[in-house]
Amino acid sequence: MSGNGSSAAAPLVLVSNRGPVTFDVDGSFTRGTGGLVTALTGLATHRDAVWIASAMTEGDVRKSRERGGRAFVVDTPGGEFHVRLVVSDPEAYDRFYNVVANPMLWFIQHYLWDLSNSPDIRDNEVRAFDEGYKAVNDDLAQAVIEQIEGDENPVVMVHDYHLYTLPAIVREARPDVFLHHFIHIPWTQPDAWRVLPKRVRDEIYDGVLANDIVGFHTRSYRWNFLQCCRDLMDYAVDFGRGVVCTPDGREVWVRHYPLPIDYKATRKVAESDRTRNFEREIERRRRDHLILRVDRSDLSKNVLRGFTAFDQFLEEHPEFIENVTFVAQLMPSRMDVPEYQEYLERIEALVAIVNHRHGTPDWMPIQLKLRDDLEEAVAAYKQYDLMIVNAMFDGMNLVAKEGPLVNERNGVSILSENTGAHEELGEWALSVNPFDIKDTADSIYRALTMSEEERARRCQGLKDAVTARDPGDWIDEQLADIKAKNAAMAER
Ligand code: G6P
Repeated sequence: MSGNGSSAAAPLVLVSNRGPVTFDVDGSFTRGTGGLVTALTGLATHRDAVWIASAMTEGDVRKSRERGGRAFVVDTPGGEFHVRLVVSDPEAYDRFYNVVANPMLWFIQHYLWDLSNSPDIRDNEVRAFDEGYKAVNDDLAQAVIEQIEGDENPVVMVHDYHLYTLPAIVREARPDVFLHHFIHIPWTQPDAWRVLPKRVRDEIYDGVLANDIVGFHTRSYRWNFLQCCRDLMDYAVDFGRGVVCTPDGREVWVRHYPLPIDYKATRKVAESDRTRNFEREIERRRRDHLILRVDRSDLSKNVLRGFTAFDQFLEEHPEFIENVTFVAQLMPSRMDVPEYQEYLERIEALVAIVNHRHGTPDWMPIQLKLRDDLEEAVAAYKQYDLMIVNAMFDGMNLVAKEGPLVNERNGVSILSENTGAHEELGEWALSVNPFDIKDTADSIYRALTMSEEERARRCQGLKDAVTARDPGDWIDEQLADIKAKNAAMAER
C-alpha cells in the first residue's frame, strides 16, 4: 500500500494511538473501545486507507513483529482494515500513556485537575514528556513517513491528544504533506494549559500548528483553541476566518466537524441475536422504570454525582422505591493510572452505600456492570426509560447519540450541557448542569413522570437529529476543507 508514486491512488493515512482492533497473544482480536475508534471504523473500511496505530498489548506487539512492522489486512465482522502497528519501547510507552497522555493532557483538557493538590510537575513529568511522549510520537511519525514514501501529495489524518508532537516531525521530513489533525476531546481555555511548563506547552502548540487544518467537534473548542494560540503563543489569530498565522508564515485553519454515529451499524447490532438475548433478560428482570448509563469508567463522566442525584431522587420520592432500577454499564478504563483506579473504587463504594440505604430484600436500586460488552449495552439502549449522560466535560459523547437511535420506549435523555453532543441534541433532551445534583435529581423525576406525548416528541427529535448525518458526511466535510485549503495554498 505504500510508495506507489501515484497521487490518485495514494491511500489516506490515518494515525492514532488506539487502533481499530486489539490483538490477544493467541492472534484473536477484539474491537477497540472509545469514541475515536467508533468514529474511524466506518472511514477505514469504506475508503482506501491505512490506519497506523500503537501496538498497545503483547498480542499487538507479536502481530506487528510477525508482519515485519508493515501494514496488513484485518478482516472483522464490520469490514476490512489495513492496519500498521508500531512498537515502542515499553518504558517509553508507559510514560507516554500513563503519565503524559492520561492523566496530564486528558485532565487539562477536561478541567479535571484539583489544582491546589495536583499536579506536581517534577523531573519525572518533564522526562515523561521528553523520553516518553515525544519518543512514541517519533516512532509513529517514522511509520507515517515510511508509509507515504514516494506518494505525491500525501494526506495524513492525525487523531487526538496522544499525537501533538507528531505533525511537526512529519512536516519536517515531508514539507509537501497535507496534515489534518482531528481532536476528539474538548480544547480548554488558556489558563487550564498553564500547569504545563512553558517549554513543554510551546512544543505541544508548535506541534499541533504544524498541521494544515485542526478540527474539533464543536464551535466552542475551536474558539478556545484560537484563544490559546493568541494568549499562550502570541500568534496572530483571525477569529472570524478561524485562522492561526504561524511564525514560519503558514496559515492553519481551525474548523469544527461534529461527529455523527454510524447509525446503520448500530441498528445492525441492535438486531443481532446476541443483543436480543440480552434484551430478553432485561425484560424479565425489569421494574416499571429503567434508568441507564453507559460509559468508560472515566473521571470526566461524572459517575459519582449521577449516583448521588439518584440517591437524592429516591430520598425525595419514596413512591419509586422498588419501581425503578438504575443500570450502570461501565467499561474499566486506563487502570494503570492511579487516579482511574481510585475513581473506580469510589464508584463501587458509593453504589454499595446507595443500595444499602434504599434497597429491599428483593430490590437492588443500582446494578453496576463493570464490563465492555457492546451487545449488552445496545440491548439496554433499546429498553431504557431514561438515559443519563451527565459528563462534567466531554468532547462529543457518542452514547448520547447511540441510545436514542435504537431506543424503543420513548426514552428520555438527561444530557450535560458540557458535552459536545449538547450543541446538536440539547433541544430534545433535559439539559443539566453536571455539577448541580439537585438539578439532576429533579430532572430524573421530571423524566419519569413526563407525559407519553412529550416523551414521544422528544425521542423522535433525538432520532431525527442523530440520523441527519453519518460518518461518511463527517469525513467528506474534512476532505472538502482539505481540497479548499490546497486550492488556497496554490493561489498564494
Ligand atoms: C476517548 C479518546 C480516544 C481514546 C478513547 C478510549 O474517546 O478521545 O482517543 O482512544 O477515549 O481511551 P483509551 O485510553 O482506552 O484509548
